Amino acid sequence: MNPRRCAVYPGTFDPITNGHQDLIRRAAGIFDRVVIGIAANPGKAPLFTVEERVALSREVLAELRNVTVFGYSGLTVDFAREQGCGIVIRGLRAMSDFEFEFQLANMSRHLARDIDYVFLTPQEQFTFISSTLVREIALMGGDVSEFVHPAVAAALQGRKKA
Ligand SMILES: Nc1ncnc2c1ncn2[C@@H]1O[C@H](COP(=O)(O)OP(=O)(O)OP(=O)(O)O)[C@@H](O)[C@H]1O
Ligand SMILES: [Mg+2]
Repeated sequence: MNPRRCAVYPGTFDPITNGHQDLIRRAAGIFDRVVIGIAANPGKAPLFTVEERVALSREVLAELRNVTVFGYSGLTVDFAREQGCGIVIRGLRAMSDFEFEFQLANMSRHLARDIDYVFLTPQEQFTFISSTLVREIALMGGDVSEFVHPAVAAALQGRKKA
C-alpha cells in the first residue's frame, strides 16, 4: 500500500473516548488504512494495562473495517514505518493542545522526514473530553456514559470496585 494512504493514530487511549472515536471515524473516511497505536507509556502510570487498552479499543472499533489496533513501545515514527504508514494523525481539541502538538510534530519531522503529521478536530460536542477527566469522573462515581462506549463505561465501573 502507498504509505501516504495509511495513517497511524498514536496515543495512550487510557481509555478510548468518544472524542478519539470521532477522530478515528474521520480518519477512516480519508485514508485507506488506519492503525491505532496504543503507547505503553509507563511514565503516565496508566489506569488500564496496554493489553486492556488494546482489547477495549478493538471492541469499540470492531465495525470499522479499515481500522486495526496494536500496542507499541518506542518511537511513534518507528511504529509508523513498521506499519508501512507515512502519516501520523493527532487531534486538536483547543488552542491548549496546539503548542505541545506543534512541538511534537516538528521534533518528529527532524527524526523522520518521510512521515507527515495530519491534525483533525472533533465535532464540537467532543472538544472537552479527555481520558484524564473521564477517569477522574468515573473513579469518583460520576456518570461517564455520555463520553465513552458502554464497554468502556463498564470497564471503568469494574475498576472503581476493584
Ligand atoms: N476529545 C478529543 N478530541 C480530539 N482529539 C482528541 C480528543 N481526546 C484526545 N485527542 C487527541 O488524541 C491524541 C491521543 O491522545 P491521548 O491518548 O493522550 O488522549 P487524552 O484524552 O489526551 O488522554 P490524557 O488525558 O490521558 O492525556 C492526541 O493528539 C489528543 O490531542
Ligand atoms: Mg493527552
